[in-house]
Amino acid sequence: MMKKFFAILIAALLWVTVPAQAADLGVELEDIGVGEFNTPIEKFYATLPKAKGDYKSRVRPIVIEGAMNTETEVLIRALKNPVVYSEMHYMFVAGTYKNYPVVIVRTEVGVANAAASTALAITKFNPIAVINQGTAGGHDPALKIGTVIIGERSFDNTAFRSAYSVAGAGIDLTKQENIGTYAYDEASGKFQAYTEFFADPTLFNIAFKVANAHKEFNVVSGVIGTGNTWIECVDYINFLHEKYGSSCEEMETNAVAQICQNADIPFIGIRVLSDNVTNSREYVAESAKVAQDFVLLVVEEYIRDVLKK
Ligand code: 5AD
Repeated sequence: MMKKFFAILIAALLWVTVPAQAADLGVELEDIGVGEFNTPIEKFYATLPKAKGDYKSRVRPIVIEGAMNTETEVLIRALKNPVVYSEMHYMFVAGTYKNYPVVIVRTEVGVANAAASTALAITKFNPIAVINQGTAGGHDPALKIGTVIIGERSFDNTAFRSAYSVAGAGIDLTKQENIGTYAYDEASGKFQAYTEFFADPTLFNIAFKVANAHKEFNVVSGVIGTGNTWIECVDYINFLHEKYGSSCEEMETNAVAQICQNADIPFIGIRVLSDNVTNSREYVAESAKVAQDFVLLVVEEYIRDVLKK
């Protein structure tokens, strides 16, 4: 009886003296800095407690995704009581943000990884919404590095059927039509080709509200082009921009939108420009922080305005 009393007393003292905020994860920001992408992963994740058993939550969590450490670290540090899950070497960190369950997914780079890790996250955590965020390359010369793009829609900028031409006629990439990617369509009960996926309107409006309230961010809405490509041919970028309205390119958003369409889960993609060859030859990896800071405000607003109402 006394033993139990003292155990409770010590637990209570610890509760008061040890801050619940797991702000210090034992690794400094520069450990996961530019040029070191994905090298000190083990060290970083080893500092986080491992989850015991399956994820359990009274309410469905919000999933926020980023492809790399630089695109997820700020988010993970913002979580209270983070615990790590790993599945097929994809990392998921579950905790709370503003007293609401949130899961950060490190999707790894590219469409297949983004789709696979999202599908795993959906089955493991049953999210109420999925936000994919990270860096992107600009297709619009009016947009500067550091600008945040709220994705009103996305498309696969590699899903093309070319026009027929005979051998020796040369390659004209502008003579091609987008044929989309296949996702489940509720109305027909079949997988169908989608040449674009639209953001969930509620998440889109919330993101806009945050943009209006936080003028320290330079924010626009736009179209996200996705593919396992990094295009620096400005003529080709101009083709995608003019024919398909792309504001930027990256490697995950549309694949995640596709999987969320299958599972009927609200989705939005939010990106920050780390590069834009239409107006500069710079690449600013640190811009990844801007997208995470902005997305945390969107999540906070979403929790307050939609989920807790
Ligand atoms: N082209 C393609 N992907 C880009 N990314 C940032 N800029 C670009 C760009 N210009 C993002 C991708 C991927 C990683 C390489 O950075 O989404 O995850």
